[in-house]
Amino acid sequence: MADKDSRAGERYAGESILDWVSNVHAGHDAGLEAAFTAPDAEGMPAIQVGPSEGKFLQLMVRLAGAARVVEVGTLAGYSAIHMARALPDDGRLWTIEYEPGHAEVARRNLRLAGVADKVEVCVGAGLDILPTLNEHGPFDVVFIDADKGNYPGYGKWAERNLRRGGLLIADNAYLFGNLMDDSERGAAMRTFHEQTAAAFDSVCVPTPDGMVVAIKR
Ligand code: SAH
Ligand code: DHB
Ligand code: MG
Repeated sequence: MADKDSRAGERYAGESILDWVSNVHAGHDAGLEAAFTAPDAEGMPAIQVGPSEGKFLQLMVRLAGAARVVEVGTLAGYSAIHMARALPDDGRLWTIEYEPGHAEVARRNLRLAGVADKVEVCVGAGLDILPTLNEHGPFDVVFIDADKGNYPGYGKWAERNLRRGGLLIADNAYLFGNLMDDSERGAAMRTFHEQTAAAFDSVCVPTPDGMVVAIKR
């Protein structure tokens, strides 16, 4: 017994539980790996969702049977690749990115991952671009992961443009641990939680920074 335990200790020494399970369940192929490592390699902020959250988004899009998805906050395309891979052949993802340089890197990664034909990267501010997408709705899934102060506005747009039963998902719902702060951003994120709970059947999943998942009533 002691022998077996110590061998096991050696084999897994230094590998955290979270890294191990994310490798087993949410491992990267070349396309996902390129998008995941792009922010560091390209001097962009490395603020993409984690591999487990990315896989979670992919499974949510599949579970919803989604064909029309909107994302606010593209960065290098990592979460977009996850979600696009859950779409049917005629499915479409519109992803909105404010920084033209990020959008360019994302387009390259989407091509590398083989999903470029399903994804439209829209360059501009979320609140400006979203109304231009109304004509493509109603949507099945909306994923919010951009500037935190505008979450209430993004959530209200989702409320109006999701189909009944559609999913609203939002990253950083704990606001990096600052959700209860007496700040404008704190108040905005609390408003987002409250307005979402009022119009959707919702939960805040305890991911590292909280992820709201909500079904439109
Ligand atoms: N969803 C991505 C990460 C997004 S990071 C992933 O997990 O792979 C947040 C992104 O939102 C950044 O690229 C930032 O440039 C962009 N952003 C910030 N403010 C924005 C705004 N007002 N409208 C659209 N995008 C914005
Ligand atoms: C930041 C944004 C994110 O969406 C995130 O998941 C982590 C950090 C940021 O703006 O710093
Ligand atoms: Mg985020």
